Amino acid sequence: MKYAIITGSSKGLGASTAKQLLKAGVHVVGIARETNDSLLQVAKETGATYQHFNCNLSDTNQLDRTFEKINDQVFKKDTELVYLINNAATVKPIDIATRLTSEAVQAHMQLNLIAPILTTSLVLKRAKHCGIKTVITNVSSGAAGRSTYGWSLYGSSKAGLNRYTETVALEQAELKTGHQVILFDPSIMDTNMQGDIRSTSPEAFQDVEQFKQYKADNKLSNTTDVANVLVKILLDDTAIINGKYYSIKDYL
Ligand SMILES: NC(=O)c1ccc[n+]([C@@H]2O[C@H](COP(=O)([O-])OP(=O)(O)OC[C@H]3O[C@@H](n4cnc5c(N)ncnc54)[C@H](OP(=O)(O)O)[C@@H]3O)[C@@H](O)[C@H]2O)c1
Repeated sequence: MKYAIITGSSKGLGASTAKQLLKAGVHVVGIARETNDSLLQVAKETGATYQHFNCNLSDTNQLDRTFEKINDQVFKKDTELVYLINNAATVKPIDIATRLTSEAVQAHMQLNLIAPILTTSLVLKRAKHCGIKTVITNVSSGAAGRSTYGWSLYGSSKAGLNRYTETVALEQAELKTGHQVILFDPSIMDTNMQGDIRSTSPEAFQDVEQFKQYKADNKLSNTTDVANVLVKILLDDTAIINGKYYSIKDYL
């Protein structure tokens, strides 16, 4: 049996990825603050199981407790492979550095950077203990590689995630564990996150008009198309290149 643990499964790319994996017969465990009942319906139709855990990933205690339970459920005798997809993230707050509050900075970094670091560590530790192969995908963004006015937090949290992922991949390779850690950059998609970006003021985000234009010109990808690519990469697990930055631009 194969299991996938997906953070941010309630909507956007996470929900589409959960759906595609269920259709491929992979059992899915989803994590978000809200539920998405359509995934239960998909599970019913496919025979794979979908289980949802309500968790605010910005809260470390909740994260620890949730992953203890999830690891107990997925790392079992008859499990051949566990996927972890660290997808949940926020672009907010968008603003210049001098207007960011401590609370907002902390919540952002906790969700976008600390949570995937903690989940990667918890899952790899359990995988080592149980001797079950694990493939971890950390969802990145082109924003990690360039500076965007108003996006100091989002750009730096994703840049940190890139360095973290590449370092863990190197460690796993050196240790010959067989576990793989990759990055996946979905590029611009038509989700709530893009709605958050478009609703920002030009004072906070200079390029807001350009992002409104992306939507008007239909330049945003559909999450189903992006998830199809990610799931194809993941299902062909012997071809996955540990530490690789997979970009949707090479596929769509
Ligand atoms: N959309 C784009 O154009 C774009 C571009 C490049 C990269 N990305 C990356 O792609 C990934 C998915 O983005 P998306 O556009 O699909 O985002 P989205 O539609 O805003 O969905 C975000 C998901 O994260 C969950 N989430 C947010 N805060 C959370 C919290 N505190 N605790 C637990 N779950 C939380 C949300 O669930 P709840 O609200 O139910 O908690 C939701 O399921 C992200 O890593 C993003 O950085 C997106």
